[in-house]
Amino acid sequence: MMMMSPSSLVITILILSVSTALGGHSHGFPPAPSPGLQPDPADFQNMKQFLAYLVIQRFKRTITSDPLNITGTWVGTSICDNDDINTYRGFFCDTPPNTTDLTVASIDFNGFHLGAPTLDGFINGFPDLALFHANSNNFAGTVPNLLGLQYFYELDLSNNKLSGLFPTNVVPLSGLAFLDLRFNFFQGPVPPPIFLIGYEALFLNNNFFNSSIPANLGSSPVEYLTFANNRFTGPIPVSICNTSSTLLEVLFLNNQLSGCLPYEIGYLRDITVFDAGLNKLTGHIPLSFGCLSNVQELNLAQNYLYGEVPEVVCQLARTGNLVNLSLADNFFTALGANCWDLIHNNVLDVRWNCIPGLPHQRPLKECAWFLSLPKLCPLVPYMPCEAHPGRQNTTCYNDWASHFNHNPPMPPVPPHASFNQLRKGKRN
Ligand SMILES: *[C@@H]1O[C@H](CO)[C@@H](O)[C@H](O)[C@H]1NC(C)=O
Ligand SMILES: *[C@@H]1O[C@H](CO)[C@@H](O)[C@H](O)[C@H]1NC(C)=O
Ligand SMILES: *[C@@H]1O[C@H](CO)[C@@H](O)[C@H](O)[C@H]1NC(C)=O
Ligand SMILES: *[C@@H]1O[C@H](CO)[C@@H](O)[C@H](O)[C@H]1NC(C)=O
Ligand SMILES: *[C@@H]1O[C@H](CO)[C@@H](O)[C@H](O)[C@H]1NC(C)=O
Ligand SMILES: *[C@@H]1O[C@H](CO)[C@@H](O)[C@H](O)[C@H]1NC(C)=O
Repeated sequence: MMMMSPSSLVITILILSVSTALGGHSHGFPPAPSPGLQPDPADFQNMKQFLAYLVIQRFKRTITSDPLNITGTWVGTSICDNDDINTYRGFFCDTPPNTTDLTVASIDFNGFHLGAPTLDGFINGFPDLALFHANSNNFAGTVPNLLGLQYFYELDLSNNKLSGLFPTNVVPLSGLAFLDLRFNFFQGPVPPPIFLIGYEALFLNNNFFNSSIPANLGSSPVEYLTFANNRFTGPIPVSICNTSSTLLEVLFLNNQLSGCLPYEIGYLRDITVFDAGLNKLTGHIPLSFGCLSNVQELNLAQNYLYGEVPEVVCQLARTGNLVNLSLADNFFTALGANCWDLIHNNVLDVRWNCIPGLPHQRPLKECAWFLSLPKLCPLVPYMPCEAHPGRQNTTCYNDWASHFNHNPPMPPVPPHASFNQLRKGKRN
């Protein structure tokens, strides 16, 4: 122990006796206050930690399930003892700008399986919070108002039981880098401002959103974008070409999207996964898709696409990175010359189309029915990449092409016993 002057010794003794009187704390390792005894601000490193303590204890009383006994660690006054995993699991502290006070800056409950009827009063009870991650819990209610949190930039509420509308007016969208609302019960429209903000990732999949995808999609700077497994309607916005320098993966899978497959998708030179399977998209595969030189997975299965599968797209398996071209359950009638090899390599799946000479195709009756429907989508010849000189058109936002995006939705395929059987088998 260090030598102390008589006066500092007196102060130390005084502090010790004060904290003993308050809760029997010894210096450095204050034990939990005895039940029923409210700790005092003086028991904490600073006022911010005392206030955080009150928020945590109030939330703890609302917890309805805690199979991992996480809340068993939410005791005592050392909230910011970040190195001790037996203390306040899930809470991490830091010093906010312009202060010297260590306080709760991030909360990570991923995989804790905690249940609570609401997060209101909890997340928004930490004024200096920057991150809240709560993947795989059982939190319910709506997203609390987080507008007062000036440092907040990451919100992960995935795989919970949250509901309500998209949290437009309660989340500081313009400051967010990452928003993950996957696997909840959010419903209603997704508003245009979601694309005006600096996300790294926007995950909306597996909810009940049912608007069209806002036309300003192209202003989104994200790398990962998931709309899958919702009830989105309308076209894939042609402005998607504006994301060409940022977007790496996009999932439109399993919605009610309609209209022609936009030629502007061909601008996505960095995209590795493009999945628009199980929608009501129609038209040809635009030749511009032959410019997706980084695409590995291209899923357009279970739509109303027709015409020839372009040779330039199949070529990507040789010249690009394509390993899975999924086109089953459409109405294609022909294959480009080098597409046949891809069937044998299991890269290309064109089962359940209308291609003569191939096994596992639709009944002739269905093909005839589809052939009789009006076809309004043009075959756009442009290829916006240097690999195909002479066919380039560098104009990203082609208004004339967007006229074709508002086709009436395709009618359902007439019922056919064997067809429905196959569908059932495939979709489970
Ligand atoms: C939960 O953890 C606390 C603190 O470690 C312990 O006292 C308590 O007995 C535990 N409860 C259960 C149900 O395991
Ligand atoms: C922190 O200090 C900077 C520079 O002095 C100032 O611009 C900023 O507004 C301060 N922030 C807060 C939260 O006080
Ligand atoms: C979207 O769903 C809500 C209910 O969740 C419903 O009231 C609304 O009419 C739906 N809107 C559309 C465009 O289907
Ligand atoms: C896309 O880029 C074009 C050309 O720069 C611009 O006119 C248009 O407003 C952009 N659209 C979106 C939604 O970003
Ligand atoms: C190819 O992609 C489809 C659609 O995403 C998927 O169902 C299939 O399992 C994939 N095939 C391989 C071999 O990975
Ligand atoms: C590119 O497309 C625009 C219409 O979007 C058209 O006016 C222009 O002529 C095209 N350019 C070339 C080189 O084909």
